[in-house]
Amino acid sequence: MNAFTYRNGRLHVEEVDLATIAREVGTPFYCYSATALRDRFLHLRDAMAGTGTSVLYAVKANSNLAVIHLLGSLGAGADVVSAGEIHRCLAAGLDRRTIVFSGVGKSREEIVFALENGIRQINVESEGEFDRILEICVGLNKEAPVAFRFNPDVDAGGHEKISTGRQTDKFGLPAATIRQLWSRALDHPLIQPIGLAVHIGSQIHDIGLYRTAFDRLLDLAGTLDGVATLDLGGGLGIAYHDGEEAIDLDGYARLLADIRCRTDAELAIEPGRWLVASAGVLVTGVNTVKQAGPKRIVIVDAAMNDLVRPTLYDARHPVWPHLETAAPLLESVVAGPVCESGDVLAHDVLLPDLEDGDLLAIGHAGAYGAVMASGYNGRLLVPEVMVDQDRHAVVRRRPGHDEMMALETVPDLQGHDSVF
Ligand code: LLP
Repeated sequence: MNAFTYRNGRLHVEEVDLATIAREVGTPFYCYSATALRDRFLHLRDAMAGTGTSVLYAVKANSNLAVIHLLGSLGAGADVVSAGEIHRCLAAGLDRRTIVFSGVGKSREEIVFALENGIRQINVESEGEFDRILEICVGLNKEAPVAFRFNPDVDAGGHEKISTGRQTDKFGLPAATIRQLWSRALDHPLIQPIGLAVHIGSQIHDIGLYRTAFDRLLDLAGTLDGVATLDLGGGLGIAYHDGEEAIDLDGYARLLADIRCRTDAELAIEPGRWLVASAGVLVTGVNTVKQAGPKRIVIVDAAMNDLVRPTLYDARHPVWPHLETAAPLLESVVAGPVCESGDVLAHDVLLPDLEDGDLLAIGHAGAYGAVMASGYNGRLLVPEVMVDQDRHAVVRRRPGHDEMMALETVPDLQGHDSVF
């Protein structure tokens, strides 16, 4: 199902006209389709049926409570990378025993919080972290279920900044180190080594890369006693623009089925982007249209602080006008009001004639959109709205300037020339 379609010439999210929401909450805002989120999750689950794989939603892609709650209610567990994300999962009603804690720099406080809350597993990413977990579980006298994140030395990911599985990347551990830590864990009364994890990158289209990583993971698992779970990571790619292919989900499912036949361990995957990206758009209003030499620049009210992917990863998101038109389309650049020339949301997109106040929707913005937003240039964090058929709800409201400033104070400098 495509949740974003034109009805009577106006772009709708399911049955709701985007302009209706824009009138209510103002622009810019993120808008998510609950039906699309459900469809994506069920599609993935059905594709993997028979492989016994559990889906741990990578909460970093979109950690809005309503999104986590919706996916959790369909049976998703969670892959988290901070205590903050554990807080969010618990607040959204997820079962703590379905939460897996990944991430390369977990602090002492975060590990304590994870153990006290009895989450399913901590994925260990360094020897230092292993020692820290060991010390903490002795101090708390609590058992720590751990998996070791394997670095398979596979170069994956659509962009240098999102490839994580190469030997020189900061993530994971080599096989030899895992073997040592595994036997230390087996000897310890409180550490339970339950499995292995691997995650090679994001926006992956080539199943062969997964196959190589999983083969190496199985080889390692075969040398260890008692591997009960294999966490196969996320990274499933989507098609952001014409000419880009999404991952072949059936091929990926066949690969999981093959892994299933080669191990008795339970399988889990950690998809983020594939589940939520296409279920969300960023809706923005046109501020003005100007000509810069040969370029037509559409200045809008959303900016790189609201959606940083085009600036940070050269990501190409589609831009859909709210009003459908048969008029000729013009090559355009869509840019925000932030004072940086990198504040461009889309290069070379085809758009109709536009007037101030017209709405545009930036597509596939449900993943790594709102979560990566900031208050740069004194801008307010962008609100989020969820639509379900003909109903909609604001699932994060736009803060006021006073709220944005509430954590800051001006020190009392009376009688001093400087703060220090
Ligand atoms: N598991 C681990 C351990 C991860 O580090 C990630 C993503 C995932 C799962 C989920 O990957 P996904 O299925 O979403 O590809 N901000 C970037 C993406 C960064 C991904 C970081 N790790 C972007 O906007 O493209």
